[in-house]
Amino acid sequence: MPRSEPIKAVRGVRDLLPRDRPLWRATERAAAEVAMRFGYQEIVTPIIEHVELIERVGEDTDAVSKELYRFEDRGGRKLALRPEATAGVVRAYFEGGLNQGPQPVRLYLVGPMFRYDRPQKGRYRQFYQLDVEAIGSASPALDAEVIEIAAGWLHESGISALSLQLNSIGDDVCRPAYLERLKDYYRPLKGRLHADSQLRLERNPLRLLDSKFAQDQPFKVDAPRITDHLCEPCADAWAHVRRLIDAAGIEYVHNPYLVRGLDYYTRTVFEFYPAGASGQQDALAAGGRYDGLAEAEGWPSTPAVGFAGGFDRVVDVMAASGVEVIAAAAADVVVLADGGQEIAAAEVARICRRVRSVAVDYEAKSLAAKMRSANKLGARWVVMLSAEEAPRRVARLRDMASGEQAEVSWDEVPERLA
Ligand code: HAM
Repeated sequence: MPRSEPIKAVRGVRDLLPRDRPLWRATERAAAEVAMRFGYQEIVTPIIEHVELIERVGEDTDAVSKELYRFEDRGGRKLALRPEATAGVVRAYFEGGLNQGPQPVRLYLVGPMFRYDRPQKGRYRQFYQLDVEAIGSASPALDAEVIEIAAGWLHESGISALSLQLNSIGDDVCRPAYLERLKDYYRPLKGRLHADSQLRLERNPLRLLDSKFAQDQPFKVDAPRITDHLCEPCADAWAHVRRLIDAAGIEYVHNPYLVRGLDYYTRTVFEFYPAGASGQQDALAAGGRYDGLAEAEGWPSTPAVGFAGGFDRVVDVMAASGVEVIAAAAADVVVLADGGQEIAAAEVARICRRVRSVAVDYEAKSLAAKMRSANKLGARWVVMLSAEEAPRRVARLRDMASGEQAEVSWDEVPERLA
């Protein structure tokens, strides 16, 4: 039976068309350049991982509990499309023996992530991250370093009006006692909290601080702040990180309610927003220290810090703030194969490709129509071949800007295109 409707893309995912790519390419290039300038090397990890690995990120994390793309493969393995890269990068660090070399290991990754969230602008089910991780050091200098990389990448992508929010959420030593204080504070208010927050109160009280529910907002102000209850090493690290960020000339605000949506963080957490934005949907990049993740994955305890930035959102902000990238023409040269000159045209194209990008127009159209297409493609030159000229290995070369046209032997064409 013939299908009546053409098959469209899956909800929440999108195509990046050639016209979209120049902005993307500019920010991808900035990402790789900035990361490499700081001594970070590229790593690629698989998009599919064992569900258990992803669950170690935190079972009470939305990206894991509600938004995970999970499936069974034909061998009955329980797999997931990665919702973020950190868990996989930490796995690869150990599996690939990177833990055996000099520490810390500085890595960056660019690739697609998947979350089954409600799609809207800036939130997609397949989206792309720059992920930056420094694994194998507890030094607060690395917390500041990854923040500087994030800021550098966003600046180089043309986004200079940024707001950086910073907090510390302590560690296993000081956080348990703080969480008790937080629960003690919220328990008498329980009946006035949103139903979801009531559930979180005992299970994951930290998340009450970044609750989005209007009815929860008034209670935050008087809630105890974790930065007032850090143990000495965490307090020292918190002070140290802030000194380093100040010294790097990066402005930030201390947001005591910033706790992050993933469960693996310890100490430093941060988020970058475009200046003036508020909602969490708008974070351009976010991360923090995660000293407990390696152990949660079953590896030796190893401190680490990193962040991920969302290319989709960065590109949206670039476009909205008028960042312009000159799009290269699809081809510098278009060769027109007139009436059965395919073989000759392909050969001339091969010769021209030594110096320029070249497309061949093989379509059965009039010369005028082919000229219009070449113009639309942005070609700077057109090479025309006729049945009479081809056997003599000559062609007509037209400069599209000046309209000048000359007969040239095939082998001389590259010189003319220089
Ligand atoms: P995250 O906050 O879940 O952190 O995501 C980081 C960034 O990815 C967000 O700030 C946003 O720009 C982008 N992003 C997240 N979800 C979506 C979506 N559905 N559509 C478009 N963009 C999105 C992490 O993923 C951690 N792994 C960061 C990290 C690395 N922490 C330590 N190392």
